[in-house]
Amino acid sequence: MKVLIVGGGGREHAITLAVSKSPKVDKIYCVPGNAGIAGLAECVDIKVMEFEEVARFAKREKVDLVIVGPDDPLAGGIVDVLEKAGLRVFGPRENAAILEGSKAFSKDLMKKYGIPTAQYETFDSADAALAYLEGAKLPIVLKADGLALGKGVLICNTLEEARNGVKEIMLDKKFGTAGNKLVIEEFMTGREVSVLTFCDGKTIKVMSSAQDHKRAGDGDTGLNTGGMGTFSPSPFYTKKIDEYCRKHIYKPTVEAMAAEGRPFKGVIFFGLMLTEDGPKVLEYNARFGDPEAQVVLPRMKNDIIDVMEACVDGTLGKIKLEFEDNAAVCVMLASKGYPEKYERGFVINGLESFEGKEGYYVFHSGTKKTGKGIVTNGGRVLGVTAKGVTLREARENAYKATEWITFENKYMRHDIGKAIDEA
Ligand code: AMP
Ligand code: GLY
Repeated sequence: MKVLIVGGGGREHAITLAVSKSPKVDKIYCVPGNAGIAGLAECVDIKVMEFEEVARFAKREKVDLVIVGPDDPLAGGIVDVLEKAGLRVFGPRENAAILEGSKAFSKDLMKKYGIPTAQYETFDSADAALAYLEGAKLPIVLKADGLALGKGVLICNTLEEARNGVKEIMLDKKFGTAGNKLVIEEFMTGREVSVLTFCDGKTIKVMSSAQDHKRAGDGDTGLNTGGMGTFSPSPFYTKKIDEYCRKHIYKPTVEAMAAEGRPFKGVIFFGLMLTEDGPKVLEYNARFGDPEAQVVLPRMKNDIIDVMEACVDGTLGKIKLEFEDNAAVCVMLASKGYPEKYERGFVINGLESFEGKEGYYVFHSGTKKTGKGIVTNGGRVLGVTAKGVTLREARENAYKATEWITFENKYMRHDIGKAIDEA
C-alpha cells in the first residue's frame, strides 16, 4: 500500500520509520518531510496547511492511508477535507481535534464529565480576568485558549506577572487569536507524565508512558520549549496509577467525546500531573508528542499500520498493543539560543555514524539538505534516541551517541532522564 505522512519534524520522522517497517507498505510520501525523512520516503514540497493541495496529491498518487502528524492542520480540519476527497485518514476530524485546539473546550469537557483536572475559570474579556486575579491564590496559571506552539501557558508567581500576562495574551495578542479567550487555572505540583493512546472513536488503547523535559536549561531552568528530551517508560507511572487513569481519565475522555457527537479517532496524548490528590489532566493533545514519539514508537512491537487502520475502521478492540520490555531516551540537539533567537545553516557532521547501529536513532527535526550537505534549519535540530535494557543504560547510550554529531552552535540539556535516579 501507499502511505502519505503529513508533517516534517522529528515526530513525523519517527512515524515514517515505524511505517517503513510495515511489510504492507510499498511506498511512503511525506509532505513536506525533511532531510532525514527523505532517506525513507519521497518528500513532496506541499505545506501542511495547504489541505486541497495535499488532497489532490494523495488522490493523484492513489494513496491508501494518510497519517497527519502536527496539531495545526488537525485543528484546522485537514482530516475533513481529505475524507471529503475520498481518502482514508488517520487523525481526528476538526470537531474532535478541538480537544487540543481549545483549552476552554477541553476544560469544560473535563468538568462536565468529572475528569480530574485543575480548578479553572474561562474569560473572554481582559477586564473580567484582571478582576478575578485580585483574589486569586498564587502561583497561578494563564493559558491562551488556542494553539500557540506550546508557548501559550504562563506560570505566574506574582500578581504583577499575572496582570502582565493577561495583557500580553488578551490585549497585545502575543499569540494572535489563540488569546481571544483565556483560561486561568490553579497551579498544581507533582511529576509530569505523557501518556499517548490510540483511539477509534469508542475504544482506547494505551501506549507505553514517557516524560518530556520542556524547559530549555538543565535543572528545568529557562524558557519553555517544544521539548528538549524524553524518556520512556516513566518509572513514576506505576501500575496502580495506570489503572486509576484508565478508569477515571482515559475511558471517560473517549466516551465523553463520543457522547458529545465528536468521536475521536487518532492519538490522544494525555499530559498528566501526578499530584498528591492523584493524577490530573494538565492538557490534551490530539496527536503524538514530539519528542515523545521518538522514544515510544521505537519500542512498539505492533505493525503501526495495523493499529492505525484499526483506529480508522473502529476495530481497535481487536488489537493488543505490545511494547518492548526495555527503555529509550531521546536527547534533543538544538541550536544555541532556542527557543528565542538562533542561527541556521550550519553543516551537520556525523549523521552516518548511526547507520546500521541497532537501537540508535537520529530523528531530524529542523534540518535541510543543501549543496554543502545537511545543515541546521530550526531551533530543535535532531533528536538522538537510544535504547537500553534499563533507563540508565538508555541514557548512557543516548548521551554517548550525541557525541557522534557535531555542528556549530550545538546545544543540549545534560540532565535528560536524570529524574530516574530518584525512582
Ligand atoms: P500545557 O501546554 O498545558 O501542557 O502546559 C505547558 C506546561 O506548563 C506543562 O507541561 C506544565 O509544566 C505547566 N503547567 C500547565 N498547567 C499547569 C498547572 N495547572 N499547574 C502547574 N503547571 C502547569
Ligand atoms: N512534547 C510535548 C508536545 O509534543 O506537545
